[in-house]
Amino acid sequence: MNTFKAALAASTMMGAVTAASAVELEVTHWWTSGGEAAAVAEFAKAFEEKTDHTWVDGAIAGGGNTARPVMISRITGGDPMGATQFNHGRQTEELVEAGLMRPLTGLAEEEGWKDIVRPASLLDSCTVDGEIYCVPVNIHSWEWLWLSNKAFEEAGVPVPSNWDEFVAAAPALEEAGKIPLAIGGQPWQIGGAFRVLVASLGGPELYQQVYGDKNAEVAGGPEMAKIFKAADDARKMAAKSTVQDWNQATNLVITDEAGGQIMGDWAQGEFQVAGETAGEDYTCLPGLGVHQVLSTGGDAFYFPKVEDEEIAKAQEELASVMLDPEVQVAFNLKKGSVPVRGDVDLAAANDCMKKGLAILENGTLVPSGEQLMSQDALNQINDLMAQFFSTPSMTAEDAQKRFVDIVGSAT
Ligand code: GAL
Repeated sequence: MNTFKAALAASTMMGAVTAASAVELEVTHWWTSGGEAAAVAEFAKAFEEKTDHTWVDGAIAGGGNTARPVMISRITGGDPMGATQFNHGRQTEELVEAGLMRPLTGLAEEEGWKDIVRPASLLDSCTVDGEIYCVPVNIHSWEWLWLSNKAFEEAGVPVPSNWDEFVAAAPALEEAGKIPLAIGGQPWQIGGAFRVLVASLGGPELYQQVYGDKNAEVAGGPEMAKIFKAADDARKMAAKSTVQDWNQATNLVITDEAGGQIMGDWAQGEFQVAGETAGEDYTCLPGLGVHQVLSTGGDAFYFPKVEDEEIAKAQEELASVMLDPEVQVAFNLKKGSVPVRGDVDLAAANDCMKKGLAILENGTLVPSGEQLMSQDALNQINDLMAQFFSTPSMTAEDAQKRFVDIVGSAT
C-alpha cells in the first residue's frame, strides 16, 4: 500500500487526507439547537476560508450528558474524531492522563495564548503538568435569569429585578395561564440551576466552600438550607414545565408561555435566532439580580493524539482559527457567550452581553462547576436535584441530607 493510501487508511477515522495535504477534519460537538448551530457554522466557515481543509461536522444531539459519553467512548475505543468540544475543566482529565489527547503547548507559546486568553483560569483549566491540551473558545456563565417581558405584562405585574420579586410574581403568572419557571427535565439543567441558586443567592463564598472545597459541614449548614428552600420554590414554579431539552424551555420564554428560565447565556443564541431584542422583548438578570457574580465556564476544543502529521497540522490550524479575533467575535455573538480574548471589538454586543462584560470586568467571577468538581460528582448532584424536582414528597431537608453525602465524597 503506498504512502498516500496508508495515510488515508490510518486517518479515515479522524479525518481523511486528500490531495496536497488538504484534510477533511471531523469535528464533534453537542451544539444542535438553532442558536448553537448558527454559532458553530461560524467556526466551520472560518476554518474552510482560512485553510485548505474541510470541516466535517460531527454534531451529536442531547447536550453534554448524552453527547459527552459518545465522544469519550470514541476516543477511548480507538475511533477518534479530529477535534471535539468539551467544557473546559475536569471533564477530560482521564483522557489526558491516559495519553489519548495531544498537547498544543508549542502553538500556544508561538501565538502567545497566555497573553491573549482571559481570564487566565480558562487556559489554566486546559493545562495539565505544564502542557496545554485545549483551546478555550468562549466564556459561558450559568448565572442568568431570562424573563419574558410580555408574560409579566399579560400577568399585570412588573418584570422582576431579582429572584425574590420573581418568586412573588409566580401566582400572578399562574393566574394568567403562564408557567412561572421553565426548565427542561434533563438532570444537568436542574443541577445547573441549583448551582446558580447557590452562587447567586448564597454568594460566591458559599459556592466556593461547597463546590470548590467540598465542605460537607457547610453543605449541611443553615446557609445551604436557605438555598434548598429557594430550590423548593423553584420546583413549585416549574411544576408545569414538561419539556426535556434546555432550548425547548427557552422557547417557552420566547413565546411568552413562561415567565422565566434559569439558564446559561447560551440561551441568548435562541433569542437571537427568534429575532428577539434584549431589553425590549426579554430581560436578563445576571446573578439572578442578587449577587453580581458569573462563573467563567465555557467551551474548549480538544484534539485526540494522531500519528498522521497532516492531520496533526490541520488540528493546529483549527485551534489557531478558533482564536482569531474576527472569528472569536463572529462565533461568540451568535453563541451568546463572551470571547476569550479581551482585545476584540464587541460593538455589536447587546444589552445582556454588556451586562455580562461589566461583571467580567468589575463583578465577582467564580470557576464553573466543571472546573471545580469531577463530572461524576456533578452528575450525582444533578440526579439528586432532578429527583427533588420530580418528587414533591421529598422534603428540602431530605434533599439537603443526601447533598451533604455527595459533597462529602466528591473529588
Ligand atoms: C454547555 C455548553 C454550551 C451549551 C450548553 C447546552 O455545556 O458549554 O455551549 O451548548 O451546554 O447545550
